[in-house]
Amino acid sequence: MSSYLIQVRPAQVQDVEQMYQLMLPFMLDKTLITRDQDDIFEHLQEFIIAFKGDALVGVTALHVYDSNLAEVRSLVVSPKAQRMSIGHKLVKACEDMGKQLGVTRIFALTYIDKFFIEQGYTIVAKESLPQKVWTVCIHCPKFSHCDEIAMVKNI
Ligand SMILES: CC(C)(COP(=O)(O)OP(=O)(O)OC[C@H]1O[C@@H](n2cnc3c(N)ncnc32)[C@H](O)[C@@H]1OP(=O)(O)O)[C@@H](O)C(=O)NCCC(=O)NCCS
Repeated sequence: MSSYLIQVRPAQVQDVEQMYQLMLPFMLDKTLITRDQDDIFEHLQEFIIAFKGDALVGVTALHVYDSNLAEVRSLVVSPKAQRMSIGHKLVKACEDMGKQLGVTRIFALTYIDKFFIEQGYTIVAKESLPQKVWTVCIHCPKFSHCDEIAMVKNI
């Protein structure tokens, strides 16, 4: 995994199986909210992926809520390719997508605040996010004792 260029691009239908396999361990350990392959297909336009050589090593998605709010979600980098700036590249690609769509503010719910702080995100109270953000979280086993940190950036 050493000297290949990183390519970041929108996901395509033929990528879904590999995306799912990359996300699966993180869904099983509850780092990510569970999404099945049908759900990924239905939201495919939201997904951005990263390749190192011909290996799919990163996935994320940008979900738009309204004119001034979108969420970076389903962010994962293969354990073999972490700490190589691929996560930063994926977040930047989400921000670029958000700008193209006219969104002015992006948030993430995370356990790794350092990763987002170094990209210009600031911690906000979860309660400051609109109610509709929590529609997905209701299905999360940790919903009643959520310990994720809400991070926001104006783009
Ligand atoms: C979080 C994650 C996406 C970061 O991707 P990445 O490609 O490794 O990150 P980058 O290489 O772009 O950035 C690395 C920097 O981010 C921060 N960082 C990344 N992972 C971190 C962690 N687990 N704990 C603390 N800081 C971390 C550090 O500042 C790190 O810099 P360093 O290597 O000099 O210490 C990746 O670790 C991952 O997939 N984790 C498991 C899934 C997960 O937690 N997803 C939810 C994220 S909201």
